[in-house]
Amino acid sequence: MDGVPMKELNVGGTSKAAIVFLPLQVSKKGESLAHDEPYVLRNGKHREVVIHTAEHVREFLRKDSKGQCVGALHGEEWRVVRRHFDPVYTHGVSLTLINPFKQEVESWLKALKNDSLRAGVGRMVVHAPTSCGLLPLRVIPLSFYGEAFDDEEYSKLVRISAMQKQALKNAVVGRWQKYKWYNMLPTSSSRILEQYQQEWKGFNTAILDKARIVWDIIITLVAFSANTIQSGMDIPANHVFQGVKPEDGMSMDQYLQTIDEMIFTNIDITGNILAFMFGKLAKHPDFQQRLFEEIVSQKDEVGLIDFKNYLARQTTLLHYLCLESVRLHPAISFSVPEHTTVDKVIGRYKIPAHTPFVIDVCRLNTNALTWGADGSEFRPERFSELSPNDYRYGFMRFGIVSGKCLGKHMADVLMKVALIIILEKYKIEEVEMNIGVKPGDLAFITHVDEALEYGVELAVFSSF
Ligand code: HEM
Repeated sequence: MDGVPMKELNVGGTSKAAIVFLPLQVSKKGESLAHDEPYVLRNGKHREVVIHTAEHVREFLRKDSKGQCVGALHGEEWRVVRRHFDPVYTHGVSLTLINPFKQEVESWLKALKNDSLRAGVGRMVVHAPTSCGLLPLRVIPLSFYGEAFDDEEYSKLVRISAMQKQALKNAVVGRWQKYKWYNMLPTSSSRILEQYQQEWKGFNTAILDKARIVWDIIITLVAFSANTIQSGMDIPANHVFQGVKPEDGMSMDQYLQTIDEMIFTNIDITGNILAFMFGKLAKHPDFQQRLFEEIVSQKDEVGLIDFKNYLARQTTLLHYLCLESVRLHPAISFSVPEHTTVDKVIGRYKIPAHTPFVIDVCRLNTNALTWGADGSEFRPERFSELSPNDYRYGFMRFGIVSGKCLGKHMADVLMKVALIIILEKYKIEEVEMNIGVKPGDLAFITHVDEALEYGVELAVFSSF
């Protein structure tokens, strides 16, 4: 507006590696360069405007709420794909996953007890970042492949997941991988990519076939018997796959890419957030105790918790913990670039239409104007003092404003089910650094009642 150009931060390189692998350094550099103002981030030939306050975001969205996504899919293509995936991830469907998720959390805890090298009576030491990654690896695929996702499929997925990580790393860090011609050369990175694509397609086709065979058998059985058979592999993947049609539907590639994003990206995101939550609970025993009391107070006279009701309530400590954890440990540090469709004025800068924007999510989610002077601190109860309107543009949780995340309902259910089951059984404590103790190790200590069943005295636990 006053002829002063926007500051520009050049992070060098030809790929987007810096923003993906070193987001906090980029964020800090941007802050010291431009302070409260938006700035341009130059990453090789990419130039994007970085915004980071609620006011910037409000202006960015004003009369332009449908900024085009410049990621893998956009516009009509994106809408078609979402039309087929959305129905299997609604709020209602997520509630039907409560029971299967409860079972998965129980088996995960059992496996932790067996695997933990440092498990004693009433206590086990868990490396939270590793262990918390294992739970979503079972649960997220289960939400899509249903009963067809058994132990055998799980082992296959673990193997393919490693391949996918390597292929993704090559694509982001590699200098030439962004050129189609390069990927056609017989390099090791193109071999890994091709092998991953083949295996991923094979895995998904086989799982659909497996469900269909069982489904066909059931239909045949129903045809020959007068009884209606309720079970069968009527899995969500099958419903979504109906949308794969050469004309006017999704392509097979879009189907496979969306499941790839749903599963592989979000296993890490969800696992990291869970690990962060447990770490914070260990650091804040007072809050943990209040949450434990809230969980126990949900029990009816026979000791059962109405999960559906508890999960739906938005004024519980459980809900505040989920909000606070994603606020301080967001899924992505910088949002996916989006273009404006009209000219904008943000701060004191005129920004022409079609400029790509990214949001620095960590700065937005801790900005003092929205969150107060203690915005960087863990204090879940802050949400009891705020109305959602107070942070409408100042909080990116599952996306800005309403949230574009496909798995938002399921992720909420998963985090809350895991917290209830784990905290009902265990108190989580930090482990003193010592030989053999790794950063991220946490002690899961059985609550006294259960420990006493093993004849262990309370004093033993308090000495840990
Ligand atoms: C606590 C866990 C999670 C958090 C905090 C989270 C957050 C996010 C965020 C911030 C975005 C970007 C939205 C945007 O561009 O505006 C996103 C996108 C997405 N998330 Fe999640 N997510 C989580 C778990 C999951 C899970 C479990 C799934 C599995 C179905 C999932 C599937 C997706 C997909 C497919 C997208 C891309 C949506 C699109 O561009 O259409 N997310 N998520």
